[in-house]
Amino acid sequence: MAEKVLVCVAWPYANGPLHLGHIAGAYLPADIFARYHRLKGNRVLMVSGSDSHGTPITVQADREGVPPRTLFERYHQVFLETWQKYGISFDLFTHTDTENHHRVAQDMFLRLLEKGYLFKQTQRQFYSEVSRRFLPDRYIEGTCPICGYERARGDQCERCGTLLEATQLIHPRSRIDGSVPVLRETEHYFFNLPAFTEPLLAYLRDKGYWRPNVLAFTLNYIRQGLQPRPITRDLDWGIPVPLEGFEGKVLYVWFEAVIGYLSATIEWASLSGNPEAWKDWWYDPGAKIVYFIGKDNIPFHTIIWPAQLLGTERLYEEDPSKRFTLPYDVPANEFLNLEGDKFSTSRNWAVWALDAAERYAVDAIRYYLTAIMPETQDAEFRWIDFIRHNNEELLSIWGNLVHRVLTFAARHFHGEVPMPGLMEPRDAEILARIDVSFETVGRLIEGCRFRQALETVMGLAAEVNRYLNEREPWKEIREDRTRAGTTVYVALRAIDSLKVMLAPFLPFSSQRVHEMLGYEGDLVGRLIVRTVAERTREHLVLTYEADPRVRWEPSRLPPGQRLREIRPLFEKIDEARAEEERARLGQPTA
Ligand code: MF3
Ligand code: ZN
Repeated sequence: MAEKVLVCVAWPYANGPLHLGHIAGAYLPADIFARYHRLKGNRVLMVSGSDSHGTPITVQADREGVPPRTLFERYHQVFLETWQKYGISFDLFTHTDTENHHRVAQDMFLRLLEKGYLFKQTQRQFYSEVSRRFLPDRYIEGTCPICGYERARGDQCERCGTLLEATQLIHPRSRIDGSVPVLRETEHYFFNLPAFTEPLLAYLRDKGYWRPNVLAFTLNYIRQGLQPRPITRDLDWGIPVPLEGFEGKVLYVWFEAVIGYLSATIEWASLSGNPEAWKDWWYDPGAKIVYFIGKDNIPFHTIIWPAQLLGTERLYEEDPSKRFTLPYDVPANEFLNLEGDKFSTSRNWAVWALDAAERYAVDAIRYYLTAIMPETQDAEFRWIDFIRHNNEELLSIWGNLVHRVLTFAARHFHGEVPMPGLMEPRDAEILARIDVSFETVGRLIEGCRFRQALETVMGLAAEVNRYLNEREPWKEIREDRTRAGTTVYVALRAIDSLKVMLAPFLPFSSQRVHEMLGYEGDLVGRLIVRTVAERTREHLVLTYEADPRVRWEPSRLPPGQRLREIRPLFEKIDEARAEEERARLGQPTA
């Protein structure tokens, strides 16, 4: 029976372009997962959007001297382009400054208030008498009380990594104007997180299938004692707190950004013409809602967001038996490093996603990022390693297999799939091995073990190469044409199956193999940018149109099918390029 799968992906702050650490960390694994489930015939939605609020946006906007909206709209567009280039197949990629999202976030806030999970409390917060405004933690700089670093940020010391409250800093000063801030009283709403300790532990009880580090981190966090969390801020950029007396205050970005998973599904439903359709995932306890994020986002997705859902219970639904579906899995990734150092935007120590796609085939990048995906520990991107993966695996195993078999069929069998003769045990064995792999590879992808899934498929491709080397169809053709035809048929059918198993990882080249094998139509869907008009403004979104014809199942390649024009799948990359690429790193950007 078709499953309902909702693929939720972290909402990137729209304050700068994306690098390959972001792609490997969340977007690529989510895309592989979504593409696989679509091929399985499941009901899949993949949603996310630009995170347009919070101090990461306002700090950068101030730095550039532009309004926050100008800044985030610029990078929102860059993100849409990035997803199209990389084939990250969002059913909807929207942003958090839509009317729809504002409304859903405010409604969840009001509902939590009505249920008694929010309370007001006075806080002391830094205030700049020079700029006459409250200063968020990130706007304060001072000496770290732990390591003595003099330029520690109010929310975190960048040298020792300690999470801080701005009031802990020694010699605090404003990062905007350098002035010494004063403490002032201000009133805020707090979310009573401790009230959810028991329900959260109960929810986590059957999550033994989670990645061990995610589960351990989560349980440990709860055991240390949950604290109430302030969920409003003194800022003028964000979603207004929908209450009188709270003018000039907004919802805390982490409180509302996670609500985007729900609001984006609601937006997708109205765009699809069936405004109630979002309930199929959000009110079905059997629906699998999976969150792809980086490890720094774990507590927001495994504790705070589930608590928000538990506390709200339901929205826009009267039926009291309905409850929001809690996360099924949160396969958070570790970090990707670059040539021995952390990715860093400020030092330009990064491989920018759009930039890399100008110089290399996207599938080659996707291949390498999957092969080194930081699933259980930090991983390292190295250019020479990228080039070797491209040349020695992708090209010499898979690319060459496709090329040699198709050119041979073109030359000796009039460009058609030959009619096989009698199958010998070795022929049947190779096909059987591939057929059963749909099950094993599928299970690995479902368990978010993408590296191992890809390795398994590549192992099969290598096996088909070995089979050809044993059979030597280039000799068989001189002695026994039917025998050679059987070999070529077996190899073509293997390729046809491997193309499907590789499609979640390598959608662009799989599509090309699909066409070379003589099929019509799309193996993978298309990404389309649309404008959505709301009452007061419009916004751009990315949507996905899928073609349902190809399934996650063994090939049934018909003999006689006409093959099409054959072109090499991948290009060899000169190893000398590694030095060129390394020389680019850390250079000031133009
Ligand atoms: N914007 C946050 C970041 O880039 C991630 C938010 S994930 C969300 O780290 F779900 F909270 F939106
Ligand atoms: Zn420190």
